[in-house]
Amino acid sequence: MSVNVLIVYYSMYGHTLQMARAVQEGAQSVEGVEAVLRRVQEFDAVEKIIEGNEFARQVREQQKDIPVCTLDDLRRADGVIFGTPTRYGNMSAQMKQLIDSTAELWLKGEMEGKPAGVFTTTASTHGGQETTLLTMMVPLLHLGMIIVGVPYSTPGMIHTDARGGTPYGASTIAGAQGERQPTPEDLEIARALGRRVAEVTRKLRG
Ligand SMILES: Cc1cc2nc3c(=O)[nH]c(=O)nc-3n(C[C@H](O)[C@H](O)[C@H](O)COP(=O)(O)O)c2cc1C
Repeated sequence: MSVNVLIVYYSMYGHTLQMARAVQEGAQSVEGVEAVLRRVQEFDAVEKIIEGNEFARQVREQQKDIPVCTLDDLRRADGVIFGTPTRYGNMSAQMKQLIDSTAELWLKGEMEGKPAGVFTTTASTHGGQETTLLTMMVPLLHLGMIIVGVPYSTPGMIHTDARGGTPYGASTIAGAQGERQPTPEDLEIARALGRRVAEVTRKLRG
């Protein structure tokens, strides 16, 4: 029997989207896993900002065929990997909005026992990758999910370069103007996170 791993993300300038696709590739590479990609609903107020920004408009266009995540997507998932850019060292409000809409799942314990992983993007090197990843885990623990990180045996994890890769989850650096791209190592660690969550999901729920 195959298991369903949901990758749900928010991205305004496309970096977290690239990471989400790499996480999906990693999860999909595990036999018996169906990896599903969903985006988080945008706010109307931010839609107006995007309208006035050519680059953000292009990124929105790239995402238009990716369905918005619903509570049923979360309900159906056997494992979930959440990705968001940082906002002042925490998850984006768009992602928090999705998580805060899960009360009916929480009441029935529907997320309990499902493996979960997290990934993020910051603009700057020390802009809050670890704080974002760790604080994202708090509501997931309330929901009863089982947190899966990235072990240091994963290639590229031990380094002193200006790029991502943390034991708490995958990460990348976008640059103040979004001018940087995820490095090959960032994307490989994202794939490793996807694979690991998928493998644990397969073992626990397959
Ligand atoms: C309100 C706001 C707060 C932000 N806070 C931070 C921050 O604390 N640290 C940081 O490095 N970048 C911060 N950023 C930059 C975003 O994290 C950056 O644009 C994002 O990581 C790019 O990801 P994306 O391409 O997936 O949208 C902030 C951006 C906004 C709009």
